[in-house]
Amino acid sequence: MIELSLDNSVRSLLKRGIAQLRDADIPSFTLAAELLLLHVLGRNRTWLYAHPEEIIPNADAQRFVELLARRAAGEPTQHLTGKQEFWGLEFEVTPDVLIPRPETEHLIEVALDRLALRELRAGRPQKTAGEDLQIADIGTGSGCIAIALAKELPAANFVATDISPAALAVAKRNAARHSVAGRIDFIECSLLEAFLGAQHIGPQAGKTANSALPAFHGSRVTDHESRLFDLIASNPPYIGRREAQTLPREVRDHEPASALFGGEEGYELYADLIAQSAALLKPGGILVLELGHNSLPAVQPLLDAATWTHVGVTDDLAGIPRVLTAERL
Ligand SMILES: C[S@@+](CC[C@H](N)C(=O)[O-])C[C@H]1O[C@@H](n2cnc3c(N)ncnc32)[C@H](O)[C@@H]1O
Repeated sequence: MIELSLDNSVRSLLKRGIAQLRDADIPSFTLAAELLLLHVLGRNRTWLYAHPEEIIPNADAQRFVELLARRAAGEPTQHLTGKQEFWGLEFEVTPDVLIPRPETEHLIEVALDRLALRELRAGRPQKTAGEDLQIADIGTGSGCIAIALAKELPAANFVATDISPAALAVAKRNAARHSVAGRIDFIECSLLEAFLGAQHIGPQAGKTANSALPAFHGSRVTDHESRLFDLIASNPPYIGRREAQTLPREVRDHEPASALFGGEEGYELYADLIAQSAALLKPGGILVLELGHNSLPAVQPLLDAATWTHVGVTDDLAGIPRVLTAERL
């Protein structure tokens, strides 16, 4: 642990913080120390490097030391600062939600590309504000997917579901922070069960499905059987429980198990997700799914040719098949 000494300058504290996190084998230790110091000081990086000699007040230095100790013990930096950037937007994160990951930005790109293609095919300009589009985000967590899409499609309407009420509370705050709360209905249910016929509604959804159907697209949803959505996006839990021990401790010990694990293998949720999407996507509607590193062989065959067309796979920057997309016939 670093010691508070007479030299509490920015440069000295940062240098000692970096050394402490490096010694504790923390990934991206320099960035982590910087982010924690910036958080404590309420400053930005430009200020940090423009004021290396600035003396940090004792209380701030003490707070920095405490945060470094927690980071060195494995708590994610984002839990200590309470935020993470995604799609150029700052999101509140808590231990109740998955920390938004950069690879999920591929899902946003694919969704927007597919919508643009649909506009072109319909003979309209490819840039759309999303007028009349009804979009669903399944397993919304922090709300990052629905909110990023809502910023890109300022006329579209959204529903965002999650089984975790605590995650939904965070997502609602993020929607308010980014001024899109009026266009996103947050619903506590499993997958899209609140939108399926009563015979499909499970015990989890039953609590909210009948009483809290959203005021969606200007009117309450009454026809459960109708095909409602133009686009369904999801980054479901997709890690296998049998892989749990291989996860970094930051993830395994600090992120919610319900956001990480899809079952023993990991890909178990996709079958229901795809079946429900088939029931709820309009003809020509788009499904966009994030995949786990080994999910593709198990998931792609679920997109049968009688139901789906224009199936596409997009790799992430590491060359892993990361986003699966298809269009409902
Ligand atoms: C991998 S996280 C994704 C969070 C966020 N969409 C993102 O991309 O960062 C999966 C989310 O799905 C939720 N979840 C897990 N099982 C679910 C289910 N059966 N129905 C709806 N949401 C579920 C979890 O609570 C978690 O918030």
